[in-house]
Amino acid sequence: MSNLYDIITIPDAVLKETATAVNRVDEAIQKQMDKMLATMYDAPGIGLAANQVNLLNRVIVMDLSKRDEKTKEEASPICMANPSIIWESEEMSVMEEGCLSIPRQYADVERPALVRVKYLDYDGKEAELEASGLLSHCVQHEIDHLNGVLFIDYLSSLKRNMIVRKIEKAKKQQVL
Ligand code: NI
Repeated sequence: MSNLYDIITIPDAVLKETATAVNRVDEAIQKQMDKMLATMYDAPGIGLAANQVNLLNRVIVMDLSKRDEKTKEEASPICMANPSIIWESEEMSVMEEGCLSIPRQYADVERPALVRVKYLDYDGKEAELEASGLLSHCVQHEIDHLNGVLFIDYLSSLKRNMIVRKIEKAKKQQVL
């Protein structure tokens, strides 16, 4: 058994599914979080949601510290089960986003600039996080995944279809 998950890419239907809440963070969920983190670091990426590894429970992992390999910053993983946004700012923020399920495609996405998120942490304890900047975009992007929403869903259909076609073409070329 591999210690990494395979990352699902569009247009797989699992990315459109709504994930189910976990009852509690037990050893199985902790193992899933560990393996999702390893998969995310390997990709590499800064966030990963359960749907992207073909699991439909409400688990996400993030780590913004590894953005630049050259800085060799310490890892600072954030693991969340059942994350929910309990407050968002009226102020909006536009940032370029990408997604491991939509390889090598990037686009500007507008979201609330600040959010407060309630979740269960790695130890199963209730926790809250107030996020701004990149972390805010990242946590909203990952929670979207749990609801079957992708960043390309915020784009015009023209732009979205262009990206979907690019991915399908790339997939075909790798297979043939
Ligand atoms: Ni994503």
